[in-house]
Amino acid sequence: MVARPFRAVAAENGGSSKMPCVTDVSFSAPKGVPDYVPPQSREFLAVRETFTQQAHRAGFEHIELPIFEDTHLFARGVGESTDVVTKEMYTFADRGDRSVTLRPEGTAGVMRAVIEHNLDRGQLPVKLVYSGPFFRYERPQAGRYRQLQQVGVEAIGVDDPALDAEVIALADRCYKSVGLTGYRLDISSLGDSECRPAYRDKLQEFLRKLPLDEETQHRVDINPLRVLDDKRPEVQEMLVDAPLLIDHLSATSREHFETVTGLLDDFGVAYTLNPRLVRGLDYYTKTCFEFVHEGLGAQSGVGGGGRYDGLMAQLGGQELSGIGFGLGVDRTLLALESEGVKAGSANRVDVYGVPLGADAKRALALLVNELRQDGVSTDMSYGDRGLKGAMKGAARSGARYALVLGEQELADGTVVVRDMETHDQEAVALDSAKKYLADRLAYDAGLP
Ligand code: HAM
Repeated sequence: MVARPFRAVAAENGGSSKMPCVTDVSFSAPKGVPDYVPPQSREFLAVRETFTQQAHRAGFEHIELPIFEDTHLFARGVGESTDVVTKEMYTFADRGDRSVTLRPEGTAGVMRAVIEHNLDRGQLPVKLVYSGPFFRYERPQAGRYRQLQQVGVEAIGVDDPALDAEVIALADRCYKSVGLTGYRLDISSLGDSECRPAYRDKLQEFLRKLPLDEETQHRVDINPLRVLDDKRPEVQEMLVDAPLLIDHLSATSREHFETVTGLLDDFGVAYTLNPRLVRGLDYYTKTCFEFVHEGLGAQSGVGGGGRYDGLMAQLGGQELSGIGFGLGVDRTLLALESEGVKAGSANRVDVYGVPLGADAKRALALLVNELRQDGVSTDMSYGDRGLKGAMKGAARSGARYALVLGEQELADGTVVVRDMETHDQEAVALDSAKKYLADRLAYDAGLP
């Protein structure tokens, strides 16, 4: 499976250390937790930063939240009967005997902070973006981790279908801007407090007639919608004629949904109506959506979200609605890999210095420092390596240009600039090397 390059590497590296082993221990990352080490970490960062930049471009502001919160926040916010709350939370008592939980998702925490800091008393909608790790004690497999990374947005305080369309179009743009293409957007409506209770009764009536096992029957009582999401083929077969919420929407929900899909049509965002779409978290109402990638196997959801009418009131705030999404960074990387696409720059640096001799090293270190001050990403060889070894370092760094400075060049007041792609090289006056490189790099980047 495609997960391999992003997997934990600590165990593999355990035996390769040159340090003498004092004891016979070796550590590896916790089960189901990926490390992102160079060079793949470049792609990780590129995806996370690109998603966040796209959100900033749409007026979302950064919010930084605790990694752990009061356990009750998630139980109330995400839903007591969800798998996330009943089976997957990392919950523990802290030293003050308070029950705290490593955040399994971001929306409940954002809502808590919005209420606590009165952000909902100012200009609405409040538009926030966050990124970082989330924790779910799931059975690890390809694309399903116990520490997962998301970039999420929440737009809170206005129940306007145009905002739903904006948020969905933003998610679509996020994927496109990292070069992902092979995904599908599933969209549906989960209705509102007007149509949901009647639909729930209707669905329960249908489900109670089916020969379901005891656990599923229990689910019919507490959360019948979730039964529609049962992955077992024999259960899916029984559900073919189940009533669908999309056919029982209130006039308000229907109009809301039609406006959202109409706007997506205008924006040119392709979507598939999926009336059987069920999200794993309980707070959703009206619009809900999921981005699905075919290259990922069972864990195909690369991101998802929706509107939540009752969440803020549920957590002690005003009766305000909101909409948001969480995009899975880990799964986006796997999806990109399955498409053979690399996100971000393949280069660690643009310029790499190769000094030959102590005086040259001093002069080159100065030039490297100045290039960095001018915003050119630059590294150099250390440890008095010979020309061959240092040029290997230059090649490995992915630099477009190597600067070779030996005793002779130093005496001439020049430095050799070597194009690492074409292998052409040219002696350039040391005091004009900065300008020369800036021009070449601008030309390479297609800048005027
Ligand atoms: P979610 O669908 O639970 O939504 O998670 C969002 C994304 O996080 C998923 O589509 C998936 O890409 C990634 N993800 C979830 N679990 C795992 C896992 N175990 N391993 C790897 N990736 C995973 C939420 O979390 C909502 N808070 C999104 C939202 C924000 N809705 C409204 N606002």
